[in-house]
Amino acid sequence: MSERLAPLISAQRIRRRVAELARQITEDHRGTPLTLIIVLKGATVFAADLMRQITVPFVIDFISASSYRNSTRSSGTVLIKDKSGLDVQGHHVILVEDIVDTGLTISSIIAELQALGPASLDVCALLHKRVDGAKPVEIRYKGFEVPDLFVVGYGMDYAERHRNLPGICKLTLGP
Ligand code: IMP
Ligand code: MG
Repeated sequence: MSERLAPLISAQRIRRRVAELARQITEDHRGTPLTLIIVLKGATVFAADLMRQITVPFVIDFISASSYRNSTRSSGTVLIKDKSGLDVQGHHVILVEDIVDTGLTISSIIAELQALGPASLDVCALLHKRVDGAKPVEIRYKGFEVPDLFVVGYGMDYAERHRNLPGICKLTLGP
C-alpha cells in the first residue's frame, strides 16, 4: 500500500505552541510538587521539548497504553502497561499525551490513575482530534485542534514509522 504525507503543522508552529504550554504549566504549578506522566511512545518527542521549558521542579514517569496496534483506526480496547511502579498518591499529576482521538485511551489512563489518589490530575495533549461520538475529555493544556485525519510525525507513528518527522503531517494510504 502506498503512503502519502502532506504537511499539517510545521515544526516552527509546534515550537511556539509548546513554549506557551510550558509557560502555562510553570505558572500553574509554582510551589506545588509536580509529576509529569508521559504516555509512551508517541508523546516522548513532545514531552522532551515541553519539559525542557518548564522552569518549576518536577519528576517524570512513564505509562504505556495502546489502542491502535498498527492500524489507522482505534481498536476500541485499551491496554495499559507499566503503571505498577507509579508513585502518584498526593502528587499533582499531568498526563502528557500526543493526541486525544476517541478519548478512550486517556479516559482509561485517567480512571486507573485516579484510583491511585493523586492530589490533582490534568491532561496535556499536543493534539485534540475532532471526531464524532468521542468521549468528552477535559484537556487543560491543549496544543492544537485537528480535523479527523490520521497524522504522523513529531513522535507520532503509523506502524512505528514517521516518528522522526520534525513537523506533523497528514497520512493517507493509497492502493
Ligand atoms: P484514542 O484512544 O482514540 O483517543 O486514541 C489515542 C491514541 O491513539 C494516542 O495515544 C495515539 O497514540 C493514537 N492515535 C490516535 N490518533 C492518531 C493519529 O492520527 N496518528 C497517530 N496516532 C494516533
Ligand atoms: Mg499513544
